[in-house]
This record gives sequence, structure tokens and C-alpha cells, in this order.
Amino acid sequence: MKKTDKADILTLLRNSADYVSGQQLCDRFQVTRTAVWKVINQLKEEGYQIESVSGRGYRLVEGPEDILSQSEIMSRLSTKWAGQKVYYFDETGSTNTDAKRFAEAGDPHGTIVVADIQNAGKGRRGRSWQTLSGTALSFTIVVRPDFAPEKASMLTLVMALSVAEAVSEEAGVPAMIKWPNDIVLNKKKICGMLTEMTMTPEMDEIQYIVVGAGINVNINSVEEFQEEIRRTATSLKIETGRHMNRAVLLEKVLNRFEKNYEVFLETLDLSVLQGAYQEHLQGIGGEVRVLDPAGEYTGISRGINSRGELIVEKEDGERVQVYAGEVSVRGLYGYV
Ligand code: BTN
Repeated sequence: MKKTDKADILTLLRNSADYVSGQQLCDRFQVTRTAVWKVINQLKEEGYQIESVSGRGYRLVEGPEDILSQSEIMSRLSTKWAGQKVYYFDETGSTNTDAKRFAEAGDPHGTIVVADIQNAGKGRRGRSWQTLSGTALSFTIVVRPDFAPEKASMLTLVMALSVAEAVSEEAGVPAMIKWPNDIVLNKKKICGMLTEMTMTPEMDEIQYIVVGAGINVNINSVEEFQEEIRRTATSLKIETGRHMNRAVLLEKVLNRFEKNYEVFLETLDLSVLQGAYQEHLQGIGGEVRVLDPAGEYTGISRGINSRGELIVEKEDGERVQVYAGEVSVRGLYGYV
């Protein structure tokens, strides 16, 4: 039986209000009863509660469990290309590093790598990224665009918007973006992103880009974070009091990302997504400090332009377009 069949059986069970008979599963997947029985047992071992009643068949009892596995992820996806190939690891170094390896080996546009634990997770600016087991959603998507390399930095903003939208939908509270791509809830960080681009050997075209995101989902208390980030980090659970299913959240992020990416491709800038992005942008109209290596300054955030740059109005009225690669921006009060 194929791996996709296992995911499809899960989808079928999840979407059936009633029992699904063994015969129905055999006919549908063109396999023997023993093969069906084996898959049901594997699913049970993975933590699913499946009732088997003789004469009626199988029924999935949806519980509070938060199972993250290749079948669970595949069984929920309804996208065209985002997640068309899924790698899942209980533990890995970094999903970005894995995704680059798979892209290098020829895996298609939309391939995703998801891990429960990363023991060498990478943050921006060479920092490390802590991934707590069983509680975070850490994933990377491979994209193979044919646009010019200078457009690539906007992809992180496309992912930031997608995560903000998905989290807002799932959590029922507005998730905000700390420009360019941290996601915050109640002004504390719940998600960071890392985009890495690989060029063709001739260095004139993009070969592939990997966009990785780490979302703090079910962390119970700030004590679980490393000391240095306790003041600024939080999780969906801490902020909403609710335990969330990470596979459902991933499904929502990928749905949004696929849609937003296609909108982005139409104009190759953020002109169409700008409004939605700004609805989630933290601190428009508020004071920000731009930590520019060439000289720091303070101004008022006026949102982003169509290239995703932050517009900062200085005291003398001059408007500066801040490019994300060079500088970081802080609110005057605290982290955002
Ligand atoms: C940051 O805010 O510094 C960026 C953090 C990015 C973390 C994610 S988790 C999934 C992917 N794999 C990595 O090694 N890093 C990114």
C-alpha cells in the first residue's frame, strides 16, 4: 500500500460521519483486507483512536491529540502545489538545511519539510533557533520561481502575511507582523522566518528558494523558553489558553501561502497584498527606531510600499524607504 493511501484512508475516515466498512476501503484503494487492517493498526500506533466494530467497519474518534506525521499532514492538504511532496521528521537538524538538500536533489516546487524537533534550528543573522519538542510547528517550503533574484526578499513577507492570516483564523485573535516578518501576538513573538536563496552556477538565475517558519504553538509557559528570549517570546497556547492542532495550522498556512504567492506572481511585487499585509502590520503610525549601521534614527512608521520596504517618516518630514536586509527596526517601547 502506498504512503498516499494511508493519508487518503485517514482523510476518508475523518470526513465520514459514520463507520467506513473494510470492504469500502478495499474497493476504493484496490487492496486486500489484510492491507487495510495493517494500515489501521499503524494509524492506531501513531496515536489515532479508531473504533473497529465487526459488521460495521472503522470510525475515527477525533480527540484532543496533536499528531504531527507525514500521513496526518498529507491527509489534510487540499492545495495544488504547496505541500505536493511532504517530508516529516520526528527530529532533524534544521528543516531549511534539509529542504535545500532535497531541492538540490531535484524535488519539486512546493515540497515541504516539517519536523517536530530541530536540534540545529537556524535563526536570522546567524543566530540559533530553539525548537521545543511536541509544541512548535517548524517547517520549510521549497519554491522554484523564475523571477529575478532581487524579488526574492518579498517572499518572506508573503509568508509572513500567510502565517498572520492563518494564525488569526485559528486563534480567533489578530496576529500581527513586526516588519518585515516576525509574527507577534500581544506584542510578543510567536513566529520567526528564515529565507535562503540558491542561485544557478552561472549566478544569473534563482535555482530555488527555501522559506522556513517556526511557530510557537503549544508551549505552556514562558519558563520553557531560553532565558534570553523569555521577555519577548510567547506561544499561541500562552496567549489564547487553547491547545492547537499543528497539522491544521500548517494546512491553513499552506492554503494561504499558495494563494498569496500566486497573487504576488501576477505583479511580482506586493501591490495587491499590501493592504492585507498592512492590516496585520504592528505599529503603523507609531514611533520606530531604525537601527541602520550607517546611523540610527527615529521616525513614524507609515506602512510598507509595494516592494515591501518600510516607510519611515523622519521628524523633518523626510520619508525613508527602509530595506529589510540592511537594518532592523524597533518600536520605542519594548520589542515591537
Ligand atoms: C528568526 O526569527 O531568527 C528566524 C527563525 C526561523 C526558524 C525557522 S524554524 C523552520 C526553519 N528551519 C530553520 O532552521 N529555521 C527556520
